[in-house]
Amino acid sequence: MSEQSTQRVIISDLVKKKENKEHIIALTAYDFPSAKIVDRAGVDIILVGDSLGMVVLGYEDTIPVSMDEMIHHTKAVTRGTKRALVVGDMPYMSFQVSKRDAIKNAFRFIKEAGARAVKIEGASPYRLEIIHALMEADIPVMGHVGLTPQSINRIGSFKVRGKDKKEADVIITQAEKLEDAGVFSIILECIPLELARVITQRISVPTIGIGAGPFCDGQILVFHDLLGYSNGYLPKYVKKYVNVNDILIKAIGDYVNEVSHKKFPLDKHSYHSKTIKKAFKHSMKS
Ligand code: KIV
Repeated sequence: MSEQSTQRVIISDLVKKKENKEHIIALTAYDFPSAKIVDRAGVDIILVGDSLGMVVLGYEDTIPVSMDEMIHHTKAVTRGTKRALVVGDMPYMSFQVSKRDAIKNAFRFIKEAGARAVKIEGASPYRLEIIHALMEADIPVMGHVGLTPQSINRIGSFKVRGKDKKEADVIITQAEKLEDAGVFSIILECIPLELARVITQRISVPTIGIGAGPFCDGQILVFHDLLGYSNGYLPKYVKKYVNVNDILIKAIGDYVNEVSHKKFPLDKHSYHSKTIKKAFKHSMKS
């Protein structure tokens, strides 16, 4: 880690990074120990993504994730973070019903959970209005276009978006509108690298890609995917840097084996009391 990396990342640092053509590094985290590790490793942005529904809570998709679950996990993450900018992901139904709900729920991320910003999927006129309202309330917003998992029931699959010109034009316009609305960065999820490149060149706001190729201003992955800490399907864009799943199965298997064969715990893992030994010396079986 570099010297300046102990200072808290603020939004202007991200803009500077884009201007200086330095890549922004983002990763998700969902609890205290993972946030500590991610923060220490030098990641700029920690997103408490609603992906926690799938990777931590075992839901099929992100739809069931509640505000209370998001707040619970975001609190743990902010407690474990000293440097990175923590962004809370507004879950499904936290902003769709009314602008009032959206503002109240965004405030919860900031006031109750200690996040510094929130993320909202999509760029419909209603969402842009919400983003304006949040900006008014001094809550920085991260945008998210391309594949937006909260739309799963409408779009029907998690496939790559923006492969044809018509859909690509829509995504470009959405990114431009988000920029006008004042978001501080935009997640580009699962779009062709050519499209991500065009968007990244057209807008002044940093783009953070996931499955959007190398030309974005930054990259984000899901913590469990990067670490191989899940059994499920992994999309093509994921690079597994380690296979934590196998390491954990081996370690826990060793524990099971040692306890069942009475090899753990040993004397060195145990406490002694001469008083108790003396008091019970006649009743203790060897
Ligand atoms: O929920 C999440 O983790 C996300 C990232 C995949 C960008 O939205």
